[in-house]
Formats: sequence, C-alpha cells, structure tokens
Amino acid sequence: MTLEHKDSLFAPDSAPEAEEKVRRGPPNRMNDLPYREWMKFQKSFFRHDSDQRLVDECVTFFTKAVWPDGKRSRTLLIGFPGIETNDYNGRLVEHTPGGSSFADVQSGLETESPELRDFVFVDLRESLNDEAALDQFLADRADVVFGLIRKALIDDRYCGFVVPASRQDGRGFPLAWSVAQAARSHLRLRDEKIGLIEEDGRIYYCLFFQASDDGRPSKSISSSQISVATVDREVPSWVIPRPPPRRPNEILHPAKYPETMVEEFIRLFTQPGDSVFDPMLGTGSTAVAAIRANRNGYGVELSQEFAQIARSRVESSIAESGNLFSDDAAVNGQVFLGDATKLDAIPEMLDLKFDYAITSPPYWSMLSNPGSENQRKRRDSGLRLTYSDAESDVGNIGEYDQFIDVLENVYAGVAAHLKSGGVLTVVVKNVKREHILYALAWDLTERLASPTAQYDYIGNTFWCQDDVGLKPFAIGIHWVSNILHQYCLHFRRK
Ligand SMILES: C[S@@+](CC[C@H](N)C(=O)[O-])C[C@H]1O[C@@H](n2cnc3c(N)ncnc32)[C@H](O)[C@@H]1O
Repeated sequence: MTLEHKDSLFAPDSAPEAEEKVRRGPPNRMNDLPYREWMKFQKSFFRHDSDQRLVDECVTFFTKAVWPDGKRSRTLLIGFPGIETNDYNGRLVEHTPGGSSFADVQSGLETESPELRDFVFVDLRESLNDEAALDQFLADRADVVFGLIRKALIDDRYCGFVVPASRQDGRGFPLAWSVAQAARSHLRLRDEKIGLIEEDGRIYYCLFFQASDDGRPSKSISSSQISVATVDREVPSWVIPRPPPRRPNEILHPAKYPETMVEEFIRLFTQPGDSVFDPMLGTGSTAVAAIRANRNGYGVELSQEFAQIARSRVESSIAESGNLFSDDAAVNGQVFLGDATKLDAIPEMLDLKFDYAITSPPYWSMLSNPGSENQRKRRDSGLRLTYSDAESDVGNIGEYDQFIDVLENVYAGVAAHLKSGGVLTVVVKNVKREHILYALAWDLTERLASPTAQYDYIGNTFWCQDDVGLKPFAIGIHWVSNILHQYCLHFRRK
C-alpha cells in the first residue's frame, strides 16, 4: 500500500515563496513531509472521506520514519476498525482494533511495550457517543486512560483522539469539549481539527495533545453541567461562506464577520418584521444583514469611529432595501454609541425587546499580540491594530478569566432584552497564546448554559474559513495549526 494520496483530504493551500524560505531553513525535525504536504495538514478543518486516509496522514505527520539517532518511530493505534496498517516507510505501527469499549482502549494501552511510543491515536467515536457514556467515562476511566497515554509517550510527542462533536449533528451536549478539558490533567491540548462528513452533515473532532503539562487547569464537565435544549429547526453543522472582499470603510475594522452568514442565521431564527440585536456591532454587519432580510437591525458599539461606519452602512442598506416589509411597515435600523457591559445606561435601549441576537466579541486581547502576521500587515498598511484604547473595550482586558467574567455579564445583559425563547448566537474562536490553548468558545458555553444561567445551549455551527491563506507557523519543529474554524454558538433564552 502506498501513501501517495493524490487528492489529499487536507485541502492544499500554500505560498511558493514561503516554500523557498523553509527549504533554506533548519531540517524538518518532526516528520518526513515536504513543505507542501505539511501545509495541507496546517488547516484546522478537513472533509473526511475515509478512516484509512485519516490514520495514514496523521501517522506520517506526527512521526519521522527513523529519528536522527537511528531509532524507528513507534505508533500505537487503538480502535479504527477496518483500517489496514502498513510499515509507513519503516515505522513500527501496532494496531489494537479492539471493540468499542473503554476497557478495550485501556487494555490497548496497558499492553506491555518495552519502548515508549512516538504517537498514539485513539478512536473514541463508538464508545463515546452519548451523555451517559461520557459521564461514565469521566467518573471511572478518564484519569487512568489519559495517565496511561502520557506514560506511553516520549516527552513532547503527540497523541490524538477522534471524538464525536455531540450526540447528533451539531446539537446535543458537546461531548468532545468535555473530553478535551478532562485530558488536560495529563496532557497539553495543542489543537483541534474538525472533520466534516459530507453526506449527513455529521462532524467529529480530532483532538491533538502533546506529552507535556498544560498551561490551563483541567476540568471534568459532566452532562449535568451544561443545560441543553432542542429547537424545531435544522441548525447547520457547518457553513463555508465566500464573502466578497471588504470595502474600504470595512477594512478599517480589524475583524468583521460576513453578512451572508449572519443573514442565514437571521432567516433561520426569526420571521420578517422581527428585531435583531448586536451588543458589539462593529461595522454594523448584523444590522445590515437584518435589513437585507427584512428584519429590524439594532446594535450598540463602543467606538465612535466604528459606530459611524455602522450608521452609514445601515442607512445605505435601508435605502437599498426599498424601505418596506411585505406588510408595508418601514424597516428600522439603529446604532447606539455605548458600552455593552452597561446596556441599562443606554436610554434608547430601555424598552427594546428583540427576537434574536447575534454578535462576536473581541477574542480576548488577541489583537494586541504583536507577533501575528496579520497584525504586521495591518501595521505596514497604517491600519488600526486594536479596536480602541478605551478601558471599557473588552478587547483590552489582559487577564483571561476576567475577560470571560465580563463577557458572561454582557450576555446576561442581552438576555434581559431578548424575548422568552429568543436565540443568541455568539461567534467566537478558541485562541492560542504562548503555546497555550484558551478554549474561549467552550468556556463561554459552560458559563452561558450552566444550569443557573439564563440560556440553554442549542448547538454549534462551524464557520469554516476556506478563504483565508495558510501560514507556515513553526514548520519543521511543531504542529501549530492555523485555526480557521470559528464557532457560532447558539443559545436559547430560558
Ligand atoms: C469582533 S468585533 C465585532 C465585529 C462585527 N461583528 C462586524 O462584523 O463588524 C468586536 C467589537 O466590539 C466592540 N467593543 C469592545 N468592547 C465593547 C464594549 N464594552 N461595548 C460595546 N462594544 C465593544 C469593538 O469596538 C469591536 O468593534
């Protein structure tokens, strides 16, 4: 069997000039892949078409056939029934297909091996497919299993788990997040890769860890800790929008989301004539999408400059819309300059109630990360790097846990203006800083849908950014994926 997949499941995307740079750089210390093949793996989402390819590509990405000291690499695969293993150009690969129980996983790890492994890859899709199985796993086995994996691995090498996203579609309790947070007790969470399965919209996660200590505390999140509700609408598991290039006034803002995607959610969760709200309106994308869909669009924005851009975009959208609903009522769009942490202090907001809210916060203080290539490009073009210098700008909060507290507070304030049963969608991303993964999307869900909070969790739609070029972060040394999937987390007001 050869490993030459002509059409790899990891879609290609690479820049030739960067290829040159890498060829002249240090030797590849992690695997035997040429630059182009490495870059395919950098993308944080992929369309899955066979387990065989998934296993082949992960084994060849996370190991070298023979390490510089002459040792052949050793991989342990647990689960993945039906795959064929081969010698992968000289690698030693043990496969414990086993059944689907955790006992099988545990016994696969407990088999005596005189040598430590370079890569361990575990398929948990069958054994972890509902909340009851998760709760049992967390109570009885999680700590032992993750501890055994750490012991089985050479320091700093990688392991991966394939876990279903949730019970079905994007809905139900987020099983994979819980597994990831629990494994941090023994392993460092490096990244997630999201496998999209085309035929039925199902998704699963490949969670990758390194055999070292994590910079964040582990958590055991059982199914009783997130309150989940179902809605009578089909919520898409993922979307891959192709937004048009940003117009000059939109580029002034460091991060906006595509109106086409927002419009899709607005149509899903509201009726014509309903009212839509965004507490952090930025350039006004939410209000523009609402107006295009014949809904009223309202928003609050802290920065005078962005509020002004939003106002002018809202005015143009109203003019373009013909200003009419089907029942001849005028479409309304309003932008309030104010602080989302103090919605009560905005007089115009007092009597307003909304049917739906969609919003995207600053992703913690990520914009002040001077090392990012995006930031360098913006600086070179004389564009604004952060949203503002204001103390009340939540993007200027330095401490992560404080940032989450403040966001929780903002969305509690939004709940007071949402009609009962109204939906809130938060568009957000897990972020990395200094090699630590801060699970912003997961942490926020845990807060907003805790049993005592104002919302139930409905599910998630991945916004897969296929229009963003890949960057060769840490190539040849470590896997630092390009996080190109964002979470659109849907909550329903209790
Ligand atoms: C990710 S951006 C939103 C972008 C917007 N969705 C768009 O498409 O243009 C976050 C916005 O939150 C605003 N913001 C930060 N702190 C705020 C606060 N306390 N109150 C209101 N807006 C705030 C920032 O100025 C920024 O425009």
